[in-house]
Amino acid sequence: MGIVIAMGVRAVFLVGFMGSGKNTVGQELARRLAWEFVDLDACIERRERQTIPDIFREKGEPAFRVAEASALRDLLSSLRRNSVVALGGGAFAHAENRELLRNWPSVFLDAPLDELWLRCSQDASQRPLGKDRKHFVELYWSRLPFYRESTVTVTTSGKELPSICSEIEGALRLGQWPESLGSRESTGESQ
Ligand code: S3P
Repeated sequence: MGIVIAMGVRAVFLVGFMGSGKNTVGQELARRLAWEFVDLDACIERRERQTIPDIFREKGEPAFRVAEASALRDLLSSLRRNSVVALGGGAFAHAENRELLRNWPSVFLDAPLDELWLRCSQDASQRPLGKDRKHFVELYWSRLPFYRESTVTVTTSGKELPSICSEIEGALRLGQWPESLGSRESTGESQ
């Protein structure tokens, strides 16, 4: 929390499985708050000068995870503006990344598995881990306990974008300044 307050920068990290709407919700939330929107996957692609499918294909998932953790570390050390950050679906499932985000508020966008699969199977070429349904389902259940460690959970099914954003703003008191400085502790959550 020290770093957050010292820099006076606020940020929210969106967490959830592939297809949960982290980018869509993140862009809209950032627009509403007049904050910056950051897509961690795009940061990885810029850093590695390669698309995510190419990184998976040429270097494999372990190399992707190393790149992902490095990109997150760089992002956190260079945050200068209030930001909404969409993480990739696997980022919060890794202990190293959760530790990096320990003092920042995170929001788990919780959507039903069938809905996630439907969205992902429509553009499977973009998601190396979204091609095989059996693997998709296993991955989902193995990650769920980690997603649930987020500061808040927002269920998205059947909700319009504005109400999802309002819920996040309310839960993290994002409209308030300087009462909540974007840190987990300052949201009053006990986790
Ligand atoms: C991944 C999700 C992707 C991307 C990469 C790996 C995962 O991001 O980071 O393909 O492990 O679930 P999205 O959740 O934005 O699709």
